[in-house]
Amino acid sequence: MAGMFTEQSFKRYTPSDHLAWHSLYSRMLPRWDRYANPAFLQGIRSLRLDPDHVPRLEDVNRFLEPLTGFCARAVSGYVPAFLFFDCLGRREFPTTITIRGLDRLEYIPEPDIFHDVAGHVPMHTDRAFADTLVRFGDCAHTAVDMVARIRDEQERIERLRSIIRAMARFFWFTIEFGLMRSAHGLRAYGSGLLSSYGELKYSIESRDVQRCPIRLQWVIHQAFEIDHYQPLLFIVDSFDHLYDLVGQMETWMREGKLNNVAPGEPHISEEDLASFLNCTPGLAVYMK
Ligand SMILES: [Fe+2]
Repeated sequence: MAGMFTEQSFKRYTPSDHLAWHSLYSRMLPRWDRYANPAFLQGIRSLRLDPDHVPRLEDVNRFLEPLTGFCARAVSGYVPAFLFFDCLGRREFPTTITIRGLDRLEYIPEPDIFHDVAGHVPMHTDRAFADTLVRFGDCAHTAVDMVARIRDEQERIERLRSIIRAMARFFWFTIEFGLMRSAHGLRAYGSGLLSSYGELKYSIESRDVQRCPIRLQWVIHQAFEIDHYQPLLFIVDSFDHLYDLVGQMETWMREGKLNNVAPGEPHISEEDLASFLNCTPGLAVYMK
């Protein structure tokens, strides 16, 4: 998609933007020490993020790229599903460059640079985790190949919708909200947890959260809602385990096991569907 990437104009950040970053970052530090996965803590050290200013992506990438080949690339808004996964396959992370207002430090529904750079990017310094993200890109291409063979248009779209829903659920319950065992108990590696002051502690300590060893079968059929703390979280043993699970998801896709996952959230938009279909000449659809 032309125009997906943009420039991060540093001059446009205001003093209150930098103050929002500082406020978010400084209060997270003790919580990360207590509840974050060791690979995340190592990532925070490796990236040397400035606690006082919104980070420049070029500074972040100077430390990140030599470690795993990943880079953060500024985007101007929502990136449709295929394009997002395809970027991961190329080791490019679509990164939001706006930051929430000082009056909304607790929660915003959409990603901002604190969620993307302080929540996601430190994990991209870990080789096994980075390789896992690349494998999501492979899955997206497999999905394109699978549905391109379906002649009936209605069936093609229904299958694709189900496959994207399965991938989105898997991504949500791992990359966004995953927990992992460690020598010191459960620790968070999901960026939705790592960028939330309240939910990070809640995810590990609350009695109201159900924490289950991950099963692909459960995750792909499990709906989720984005606007409150998650009542159900899944635990992986290691990033090698997570990497293998993405491979298992790709195998299941090829076997047709993602063709009819349970209905419900997330909603898959026309834009998301089109992003997959437009990869195949002859199947291209145009957005209304
Ligand atoms: Fe995210």
